[in-house]
Parts: sequence; C-alpha cells; structure tokens
Amino acid sequence: MTADAPIYVNPDKLFGRHLAVLGNTGSGKSCSVAGLIRWSIESVKKNIEDGKNPNYRFLILDPNGEYGECFDDLSCSIHKYKVTLDNGESSGEQLKVPSWMWNSFEWSAVTKASDRSQRPLLRKALKEIRYGVAEENEDIELLQFIQSFYVQLLNFKKNVVALAEFRGRMNYGEALECASRNIQTFTNNRSTDICKAALCIHTAVNNLLTTKPRDRNGYFPTFNVVDVNSLISVIEQNKAILLDSFQLEKGPDSDTPIFFDNMMFASHLQTIAQDNPNASFMDYFLMRMKSLLSDVRVKSVIDGKKEDTLEQWLESYVGADDDNGSINIVDLSLIPSDILNVIVAVFARLVFEAHQRYRRKYQNVMPTTLVVEEAHNFIKNYLDSSEDISSSQLCAQIFEKIAKEGRKFGLGLLLSSQRPSELSQTVLSQCNTFLLHRLVNDRDQEMVKRLVPDSLGGVLGELPILPTRTAILLGWAASIPTLVEMSELTKEKRPKSNDPHFWDVWTGKEDLPIKWAEVCQDWQRNYNVGVETEDEQTKKDESSLTEDDVDLPF
Ligand SMILES: Nc1ncnc2c1ncn2[C@@H]1O[C@H](COP(=O)(O)OP(=O)(O)OP(=O)(O)O)[C@@H](O)[C@H]1O
Ligand SMILES: [Mg+2]
Repeated sequence: MTADAPIYVNPDKLFGRHLAVLGNTGSGKSCSVAGLIRWSIESVKKNIEDGKNPNYRFLILDPNGEYGECFDDLSCSIHKYKVTLDNGESSGEQLKVPSWMWNSFEWSAVTKASDRSQRPLLRKALKEIRYGVAEENEDIELLQFIQSFYVQLLNFKKNVVALAEFRGRMNYGEALECASRNIQTFTNNRSTDICKAALCIHTAVNNLLTTKPRDRNGYFPTFNVVDVNSLISVIEQNKAILLDSFQLEKGPDSDTPIFFDNMMFASHLQTIAQDNPNASFMDYFLMRMKSLLSDVRVKSVIDGKKEDTLEQWLESYVGADDDNGSINIVDLSLIPSDILNVIVAVFARLVFEAHQRYRRKYQNVMPTTLVVEEAHNFIKNYLDSSEDISSSQLCAQIFEKIAKEGRKFGLGLLLSSQRPSELSQTVLSQCNTFLLHRLVNDRDQEMVKRLVPDSLGGVLGELPILPTRTAILLGWAASIPTLVEMSELTKEKRPKSNDPHFWDVWTGKEDLPIKWAEVCQDWQRNYNVGVETEDEQTKKDESSLTEDDVDLPF
C-alpha cells in the first residue's frame, strides 16, 4: 500500500527476542541475514556517540561456509574460524572447542555412553582428572582445617570436665599447638580474607598457649570452659568467611572447565574401567573413545593446549574489549559429522553460560546475537523418550534453553531455516519476530500459520508466491505484518550461495575448467604431500587406523 516507503526496524526488538528467518532454498534467507547484520553495523557507524567505540557482537554458526567473505569491506573486527586441515588455505584460524571444556553430558553424547554402566564411570573419570590436575588451593585446605578445628573445640566444650584431667588437657593443649602450626603453614604470608580471619585465630591460640605453657615435664596445666569459649567466639566472629563458605570445599566437579589432556583422560578411564567388575561392557566404549580422540580432523578441533585459557577462548569467540565490535564467523563445513552436533552444543552452551555469569558478576547484560544458519540441522524436533542422550538432542536442548532464557542475559538468536516443520517447536515458539520468505511446502506453511494469530492468517496467503528478496515481516519488531523488499546486496556482499549458472556454463559464456587434483589432495588428507616433521609423521601413523578412515576414498 505504501509503495516504496523505507522500513526501519528497532534493533532492540529485532534481536532482543529472537528472530526466525524462514523460507525455501534460494528464497533469499542467507542474504537477508547478512543484510540485517550489515545494515545494523552501518547504522551503528552513523549513530555512534562522539569518542565512543562500537560494541556489538555477532556470532555466526555457518554450516556451509557461506559467510566467509561477505563482511570483508566493513571495517570492523572479523574473526573467521574453521577446520584448517587443508594446508595452504590461509583465511581463517583453526576452530577450537577443546574437549576439556565439555561437560559430562556432552562427553556422554559424543561417546554414546550407555546409561547404566558407562556414564557413571565416565563422570567419575572426568571428576577425578579435573580434580587431579586442578591447582591446589591453599584457602580450601585452610578452611577445611579450621572447620574441623571448630568442631573439635565444640566437643571439648561439651566435655569440659575432661579438660582438667590428665588426658583431656594434654589433648587440648596439643590440639592448640597443632592449630597454631597449621594455620601458620596454610596462611604462609598470604593475605586473602580467609587468611586474615585465620590469623586472628592464630593469635588467640598463641596468646592462650603463652598463659598456659607446658611444665618442665612437658605436661599442660588444667584448662577450663573460659579457655574453650574464647577460641570458639573468635572463630564465630568470622563466621561468614570461615564457616559459611562450605561451597569452597567441593573443588572442581565433573563439569568444571579445567584443562586436562585427552590422552591422559583416555588412559585414566581405562584404568578405572579395569578396576570395575563390569569391565567387559567397557571394551567397545573405550574403543569408540580412543578412535574418536585419535581422529586427525576431530583432534584438530578438540585438542587443547595447557596455555590456552577459558578467558582467551571467550575473548576469541564471544568478543574482547579491544575488538570495538566484532563479527565471529564459525565455519562448520569440514567438522566431522560425528562431533558436529556436540561441537555446536558446547559452543552454544559456553556462550550462554558466559552471558549468564557475566550478568551475575556485573549486574549488567551483554547484548550478543547468535546467528544459526540452517538451524534445522542443530535444533531438530526430538522425541524425549530414549534414555541415551544423543548429540542432536543435546544440541536442540541447549538452543531451547537459550530461546527460553537467553533474552534475560542479552543473548538473542537469529535462526535461518528452510524447514520450520522440522525445527524444535519450543525454539520456534519463543521467536518473537519472523521474517518469512517464500514457503511452498504445505506443512511448513501450516506450521508458520500456527505461530501467528488467526486474524493475521490471511496475510500469509502470499507465502508460496513471494519473489526472492521479498518477505513478510511480522511479530514483536513489526507492529503490523509488513510485506518488505530487502535492500539489494551487491555480489561481494552476499553470502557465497549464488544460484548455479547452468546455461552460461553449458554454452561457454562462463569458463569453468574441470580440475580435480587439488580437491582430491584435500580429500585424501594430504597424507603424501609436502614435507613433514618426524613428529607429525608418527602422530599420523598412530592415528592412521581409526574408524573414520574406513570411509576415506583410498
Ligand atoms: N537482498 C538481496 N540482494 C541481492 N540478491 C539477493 C538478495 N536476496 C536474495 N538474493 C539472490 O537470491 C539468491 C539466493 O539467496 P540466498 O542464498 O540468500 O537463499 P537462501 O534462502 O539462503 O537459500 P538456501 O536455503 O539454499 O541457503 C542469491 O544468490 C542472490 O542472487
Ligand atoms: Mg542460505
């Protein structure tokens, strides 16, 4: 009706409550997604406050590697991550989702651990390896000691008569000396809050000991209830720090992201399995685990180094302070299919938890947009019946969580999919805005119509005949459903997903040499190409008999 009126959308509304871009193949979804990101960033540049730097974050999960170049002309930090096994290709860093960041569910899903025997063992192994390699925390030990000293004092108080007797007063005196020494050792010139509080106890204990020193034979004089009470009250004065901090006692559990080495983990699991009476059930499981951990492509993504920290990971993949706004493109196209879903699930979970924790720490939300292309691959409808956790279910569940709770933490989803009827209904129903391109399939149309009020159903009659680039915008960000034509993107600004030019290629208008050599080299993993160090060669030999290699076209 309004012909060529430009249409503007409030980005808070568009990205704040999840946006779904739906439509058939070739209907223009990827271009619209790329456009929405680009136009947002261009407006940021126009509207930026004087002296301030832009501060946006777009994380793109790109299963087909389409988005690689389409933002290159925007002068902002663009980080590209992918599986860089094919040497020579240089654009993009190696994608890393190290396995030490996975939680026990993610490990179970990827190793297909069965519910009864394998999963508990896996969890035990994870907990032990994380606990074993975690740095020793002197504060935790100090707390544990003081808490047990406190309990000891309470017992002395109950049995105060004994403090006058030979045994009792010796015990009490020795307990005091031991406490004094231990606190001294644990505090060790440090000055944390816990140490400061502990030093008060140290002083009180020493004062008491100077008033009641051992006699010539090494025996303590009689103690009484006042002596005990004085110490108990010093501890209770610092109750909040010393007694209420029980959570510190736990240390890392099976889900805490603490670095460990994959191969060490596999060996540890094997040791635990051998001690287990049901070890025979573990053979296949261990084999699966080993073949997974030694696959070259899998390794390139999940192997971590000790010096890589969680902080660095978040800075690279979510955003760093000096980025001044960033687009992070994660190209998932060469990730082996057996870990693809888990990688995406871990990635999404880490991003989500980071936002959750950010808000808890700073009482402030960090707005970030998580773009999921071809979302039906990761956010599938699933039946919630089977006992075993499958990777694809795990993946769908984390996105359901983000769809339900992400808004509060500033994490907005931008989904693009060809098959709304295959998408998880929970996720789709949490999307508040829809950009609908051409949709021909009946079931998909039905699906979409169910998401909008009946009175608006009529507008959607046009869905099957919408031309490319045209779409219907409806929901939270559009006060009335609006037929929009997306602004034109020039070729280099579009994702790499052009329609193929059959005719021009057939008739020679477009030159297209047929060259397979390099394709095959990459495919067969360059085993015989280039010079390798001995180390690399042995690594490859060790891993050359994995399940995955059975599929290689040798
Ligand atoms: N805004 C636009 N500007 C310019 N061309 C566009 C635009 N939108 C779509 N097109 C054209 O339509 C073609 C297909 O668009 P696009 O790749 O976005 O489709 P899609 O819906 O993502 O398809 P698929 O589901 O297969 O990924 C593009 O190659 C481009 O030629
Ligand atoms: Mg697309």
